[in-house]
Amino acid sequence: MAERAKPRLGVAMIGHSFMGRTHSHAWRSASRFFNLPLEPEMKVLVGRDQPRAEAAASTLGWAEVSTDWRQVLERKDVHLIDICTPGDTHAEIAEAALDAGKHVLVEKPMANSVAEAQRMVDAAQRARSQGIHAMVGFTYRRVPALQLARELISEGRIGEIRQVRAQYLQDWLADPEVPLSWRLDREKAGSGALGDIGAHIVDLTYFLTGERFAGVSGLLDTLVPERPIAAPAGGDGADGAAGSAGAGGGLGGGVGGDARGPVTVDDTALVTGRLSSGAPVILEATRFAWGRKNAMRIEVSGSRGAICFDFEEMNVLHHYDASAPARTAGFTRILATEPEHPFVEAWWPPGHGLGYEHGFTHQVVDLVRGIAADQAPRPSFEDGLHVQHVLDAIERSSGAANQWTAVHQSERS
Ligand SMILES: NC(=O)c1ccc[n+]([C@@H]2O[C@H](COP(=O)([O-])OP(=O)(O)OC[C@H]3O[C@@H](n4cnc5c(N)ncnc54)[C@H](O)[C@@H]3O)[C@@H](O)[C@H]2O)c1
Repeated sequence: MAERAKPRLGVAMIGHSFMGRTHSHAWRSASRFFNLPLEPEMKVLVGRDQPRAEAAASTLGWAEVSTDWRQVLERKDVHLIDICTPGDTHAEIAEAALDAGKHVLVEKPMANSVAEAQRMVDAAQRARSQGIHAMVGFTYRRVPALQLARELISEGRIGEIRQVRAQYLQDWLADPEVPLSWRLDREKAGSGALGDIGAHIVDLTYFLTGERFAGVSGLLDTLVPERPIAAPAGGDGADGAAGSAGAGGGLGGGVGGDARGPVTVDDTALVTGRLSSGAPVILEATRFAWGRKNAMRIEVSGSRGAICFDFEEMNVLHHYDASAPARTAGFTRILATEPEHPFVEAWWPPGHGLGYEHGFTHQVVDLVRGIAADQAPRPSFEDGLHVQHVLDAIERSSGAANQWTAVHQSERS
């Protein structure tokens, strides 16, 4: 009963397919498991097609629907806009929402270009002075094992950062008959594997080491330059009945017709880089790694040891202590499911494990707590802008025969 006295945080979410489903789950579950200072209310689901939006709202737990996000910004009972649409819409919606005094959570990559991301930072800075906050959905930051990795690194447990290697491997485009979708359209997605999954490992490198990228050399390639045009799906063409990702929601799925069209983004991104300390980094993002479904891996080697993570075993962090005697030295497998581990106490007993969706719930928890405390949640729009500058430098380098390219350093939050 006491919970009823909590101030409400009215939420409107735009887009209701893959990310719309994960975010809805997060908004539904956050205050059921965590003690939040504000009670999120799932007010409005925004889609482009009324019947589909209504069906999704009923499945996902939203009170109302709208097909006009601008109208939703006028509502006094909506305090936060959650943007779960492709990248071409992020800047316009986020800027308008912040200027209307709404908090914003926007999916990654934050924008489709540096110029858009910069405009979003400007809007976030205008809003911050009014107590309005903005956050980017680099969700993997909130996997407990990766939060633990960040803690160990900042405590100096692996010493100075010497080298980072990270991969994000998927295989949903390895079949050349998988039809075109918005993720393969530069106008909608900004870039391909680079911005979609490469952005995550750029952000994670930044998050774990605390260091920005200084420069990069990039090699982007489109391995299958033409694909079948997807047969019309009806409605707004992007969502399954409840917006399932496997039903054409942008990650494979759908059926191709006879006609073919161009892929206008990269299929694979290979990058060498240096962090601000000079530490070398190697990154690989691809959707052509057969058998690798969502293999996001990162290993950071320091002067005193290393940490190693693989999302396909997401509850585990490996830690190597180089000071251990050679006879017994080896990676320690830490099952990050103890109450001492970040976020875990709110969930299940040790060893019972968390999944993909929990990162999204933790994201909502930190966002709501940040809003209530008037403390800018991270990753901020400035953090998102840094990632955008890295993506931009990689693209420019790739277009210039892999030439070494400095990463523009913008302001910090
Ligand atoms: N954090 C993560 O790990 C993660 C994972 C997947 C996707 N994403 C990001 O989330 C965003 C959405 O990706 P997705 O996989 O959910 O895509 P999706 O294709 O599954 O869903 C996109 C949704 O946006 C709607 N939409 C498209 N254009 C719109 C417009 N102009 N106005 C209103 N609605 C519109 C579609 O109808 C659909 O409901 C992208 O930025 C993507 O990069 C993040």
